[in-house]
Amino acid sequence: MRMDDGVAEFVSIYGKAGRVVFFGGAGVSTESGIPDFRSEDGVYRQKYAYPPERILSHSFFCENTEEFFRFYFDKMIYPDAKPNAAHFFLAEEEKKGKIVSVVTQNIDGLHRKAGSVNVRELHGSVYRNTCMKCGAKYDLSYMLGRRGKIPRCSCGGIVKPDVVLYEENLDGETVENAIEEISSCDLLIVGGTSLNVYPAAGFVRLAKGKTVLVNKSETPLDEIADLVIHQPIGEFFKKVKAYEE
Ligand code: OAD
Repeated sequence: MRMDDGVAEFVSIYGKAGRVVFFGGAGVSTESGIPDFRSEDGVYRQKYAYPPERILSHSFFCENTEEFFRFYFDKMIYPDAKPNAAHFFLAEEEKKGKIVSVVTQNIDGLHRKAGSVNVRELHGSVYRNTCMKCGAKYDLSYMLGRRGKIPRCSCGGIVKPDVVLYEENLDGETVENAIEEISSCDLLIVGGTSLNVYPAAGFVRLAKGKTVLVNKSETPLDEIADLVIHQPIGEFFKKVKAYEE
């Protein structure tokens, strides 16, 4: 494990790797103006009538649907957020054939907005929504048009965001793809995640190749990663690009 500016070491490890996978979380989007969950100014540090982790649970959704949507519209949706240097770096590297996939816990859709195609959205996306009664699909603008009330389908059913809540299972095919890619890549870059939430956090342990961590604060992976970089991830990838040019 080495801790320094890290750009040269990163470029060296990255250059030697054939298949690279990125695994990320909310910290990837803070430089786009979306707060993360567990930092000082994170969503989970703010005061609400209920603990946010309780609000984001399946049973709360069923029992307090109106309150759930109040929180959801207020704190979980950032339709105007733009991808930052980290999202763009990963999208460009995918086009070059270097990045195999991005596995993300984020629901903000910013990797796709930046141009990444192979994106495994472990916790779903605010851009996909489904009627609980008839299965009709709705986009984000439909939901935003119903801000302030419970979004309903033309059939009368509640339209639920395709976002994985606590007490719910991750999508099987998404998990299968993520596990297959992580366990077969030469290099796993882990970034912007506290690695607190399972099962997602456990996937990074399946990597058999090298592991690089880019995170502002310490994580359980610091001990075992080949390279640890404690810097803002967008800033770091900007430096990597500048170094390579
Ligand atoms: P967390 O808020 O737990 O962790 C974010 C991590 O990113 C922290 O370790 C920060 O130090 C770091 N960080 C913040 N900004 C950064 C930056 N610019 N560059 C590098 N690192 C930065 O978020 P997640 O690990 O994504 O699940 O949380 C996992 C899950 O918990 C979320 O997907 C969400 C939440 O409950 C659901 O909603 C189901």
